[in-house]
Amino acid sequence: MILVTGGAGFIGGNFVLDWLATSDEPVINLDALTYAGNLETLASLAGDARHVFRRGDICDRALVDELLKTYCPRAIVHFAAESHVDRSIHGPGEFVRTNVEGTFTLLEAARAYWSALEGDEKAAFRFHHVSTDEVYGSLGPDDAPFTETHPYEPNSPYSASKAASDHLVRAWYHTYGMPVVTTNCSNNYGPYHFPEKLIPLMIVNALAGKPLPVYGDGKNVRDWLYVKDHCAAIRVVLQKGRLGETYNIGGWNEKPNIDIVHIVCALLDELRPDAAGSYSRLITYVKDRPGHDRRYAIDARKIERELGWRPAETFETGIRKTVEWYLANPEWVANVQSGSYRDWVAANYGDRDDSRAQVRA
Ligand code: NAD
Ligand code: DAU
Repeated sequence: MILVTGGAGFIGGNFVLDWLATSDEPVINLDALTYAGNLETLASLAGDARHVFRRGDICDRALVDELLKTYCPRAIVHFAAESHVDRSIHGPGEFVRTNVEGTFTLLEAARAYWSALEGDEKAAFRFHHVSTDEVYGSLGPDDAPFTETHPYEPNSPYSASKAASDHLVRAWYHTYGMPVVTTNCSNNYGPYHFPEKLIPLMIVNALAGKPLPVYGDGKNVRDWLYVKDHCAAIRVVLQKGRLGETYNIGGWNEKPNIDIVHIVCALLDELRPDAAGSYSRLITYVKDRPGHDRRYAIDARKIERELGWRPAETFETGIRKTVEWYLANPEWVANVQSGSYRDWVAANYGDRDDSRAQVRA
C-alpha cells in the first residue's frame, strides 16, 4: 500500500480518488482535517476497504511511526501542507510548522522505517514530495519558463516554507541516501477545489451574485494545470522517476488572471445564464496581494522527455469540466462554506478597499 498525506485536500483528494480508480493498491490517508481538509471529497470511498483514513498531524512523530509500522507502505506521497498564499501572509507560523517541521518529521520517520527495510522492499521504497513552482520566485514577461535548475527565490511565507521543505528533502537524499523524488507543479484547478482559490472563488461568487475580486491590475500570470493531469504526472514519477531528481509539472497554459475570470464568466453565461446580464459585470478590482509574484511559467520538457508525461487536458476542456462540476455539486460547495470559511473572507478581503462590503456580502 501507499501512505498519502493530505489526502482530504484538493489535490490529495483527487489523487486518492484517481489512484483507487486506476489501481487496487490500498491507500492509508493521513490528514489533520484543517479548514482545507474535507472528507466529503472522499464520500464515494465510504465502505471501500482499500481506503484507510486516519485523522492526524504530520508533525506527530509517534503517529507517523505507528502508521508506518502498522501498514508497511511501499511509498509515501506527501501532499499535506498549508497551501494558500494569502493565508500565509496573515499567519505564517502555521506554514512553517506544517510545511517545514511536518516535512522534517515525515522525513525522519520515513528514514527510520526505510533503514530497517531489506532487499527488494528497501530498493523499492519511495518518498515523493509534492511541491510548487512558487519556490522559483517571479518571472518577467520575457523570461524563459522555470526549469528544474532555476534558482530558488521564494517571495511569500508559503513559498519560503515550501522551499525549505524541498531543501530538506534534497538533503535527506544527499546525506542519508533516502530514495526521494520531488515534483514542482504549477497552479492546479478542477473538482473539489476549495472556494477561496481564484477559479473556484470566481465560480462560487458569480453564482451567488457576489463581486469577483481581482487583485491589482489582474495581469499576474499563472500556468494552469487540470488537477487530474497533475495526479497522473505524480503516478508516473512515482513509478519511473529517477531518485534524487526534481521534475517540473505544468500545463503549458499561461494566462493572466483577468483572462481566467473572463473565461469563467463566459462559461457560466453559456451554462447558467443570469437574467441580470453577463457575470463579467461582477468583476471588481481590489487592493493587490503584498509581494504578489507577477508571473509563473513551467518548462515541463524534462518530465516529458524522461518519463513521457504530457497533460491530457487543454485549458478549454479542463475549465469546462471544472465549471460543469461546480454546477453539478452545489451541496459540496455549500457544506464547505462553513463558519471558518466566512471568517476567512472577512480577514482577507475586509481591508482591501471600498469593494469590501460587496465582497463580504
Ligand atoms: P489543500 O490546502 O487543498 O490541502 C492540504 C491538505 O493537507 C488538507 O486536507 C489539510 O487538512 C491537510 N493538512 C494541513 N496541515 C496538515 C498537518 N499538519 N498534518 C496533516 N494534514 C495536514 O492543498 P492542495 O492545493 O491540495 O495542495 C496539496 C499539495 O500540493 C501542497 O503541498 C501544495 O504545496 C502543493 N501544490 C499545490 C498546488 C495548487 O495549485 N493547489 C500547486 C502545486 C503544488
Ligand atoms: O503556483 C502553484 C501555487 O498555486 C500553489 O503552490 C498554491 O498552493 C496554490 O494556492 C496556488 O497559489 P496562487 O497564489 O497562484 O493561487 P490563488 O488561487 O490564491 O491565486 C491565483 C492568482 O489569482 C494569483 O495571482 C492571485 C489572484 N487572485 C486570487 C484570489 C484568491 C485574485 O486576483 N483574487 C482572489 O480573490
